Amino acid sequence: MELKSGEVSWQSPSNIALIKYWGKKGFQLPANPSLSFTLSKSVTRTSMAYAPASDPEHFKVELMLNGKINQQFSDKVKAYFDILLEQIPFLKFFDYEIYTVNTFPHSAGIASSASAMSALALCLCDMEQIISNVSNSKKTKFYEKASHYARIGSGSAARSIYGGVVSWGKIKTLPGTSDLYATPIEENIHPVFENYNDSILIVNRGEKKVSSRHGHQLMTNHPFASARYKQAVSNLEKLLEVLSAGDLETFISITEQEAFTLHGMMMSSMPGYILMEPNTLNIINAIRSYRAESGVPVSFTLDAGPNVHVLYPQQYFQQVQEFINQELLKWCVSGTTINDCMGTGPERISRK
Ligand code: DP6
Repeated sequence: MELKSGEVSWQSPSNIALIKYWGKKGFQLPANPSLSFTLSKSVTRTSMAYAPASDPEHFKVELMLNGKINQQFSDKVKAYFDILLEQIPFLKFFDYEIYTVNTFPHSAGIASSASAMSALALCLCDMEQIISNVSNSKKTKFYEKASHYARIGSGSAARSIYGGVVSWGKIKTLPGTSDLYATPIEENIHPVFENYNDSILIVNRGEKKVSSRHGHQLMTNHPFASARYKQAVSNLEKLLEVLSAGDLETFISITEQEAFTLHGMMMSSMPGYILMEPNTLNIINAIRSYRAESGVPVSFTLDAGPNVHVLYPQQYFQQVQEFINQELLKWCVSGTTINDCMGTGPERISRK
């Protein structure tokens, strides 16, 4: 092990879940498997500089978000590193300066934990290789470990380690899948899903009223939890067939059901809460009417928030853009939309 200063930088994208992770078991393990596609433009860029710590028992973490010191995130990352010490004991021998920027506005209402924690986990894996003088560990193992570290920071971040379609959680019919890390689904994806579009309509930019972390906790004694977990498994198995067959009709019905179930579980927790807003429902209703009238296979999904992810194949880009501009923009805050699509995953920026 070498106690030398260094700096590593990665960029990593956000992802949108089609089969939702909602509910945990054990420590940061998913109660059901989930499936997402990784986005292209909504990314976090993180540089992590490390130098030998003056006091390893109190090693320091300072995080700068968009050029400004952010005490709340510095404390969060320190707590995360403390948890990781069990797996990466040398972490305490260094102090850290982390510079991080999101390409999407912080106030855009897009969850940044997936992109942020995956970028940080990749930096940690790079640092681990440098510190332990391993230059050529197997690429698959590197990403598996990064996904494992990312999961400990935020479950959905485990999936952002890979591009394209990604699952996380043990799936009986898919060998190699695990609750510990995500797995890319590279084979059997029909071309209609290539560059699949996700136009994110921002209904509200504010902080969420209830955090995802708390929402997951409310699943513990949820009366419908076990039925929900079964539904997720069955929807995921069906979706794998749909993704390989290019069956857009079933794709739409499964993904929309997943979005409604996610919010249904929130509303029926104890205490129940609502993250959708009137304009979320206006947009959903308009999408469904437009689809019925035009035959364009456009659908929606929701994150744990009010913003609507409008999903559609690349070939319908022009048509759907016109529809969004004419009929949906009026329900978005300051007319804000982010046109994103399926991307190829994280990229190393530098390693010094
Ligand atoms: C609704 O990954 O944010 O976006 O593990 O507590 O950080 P933590 O939760 P988080 O939950 C994401 C929930 C979701 C669905 C999903 O991405 O699968």
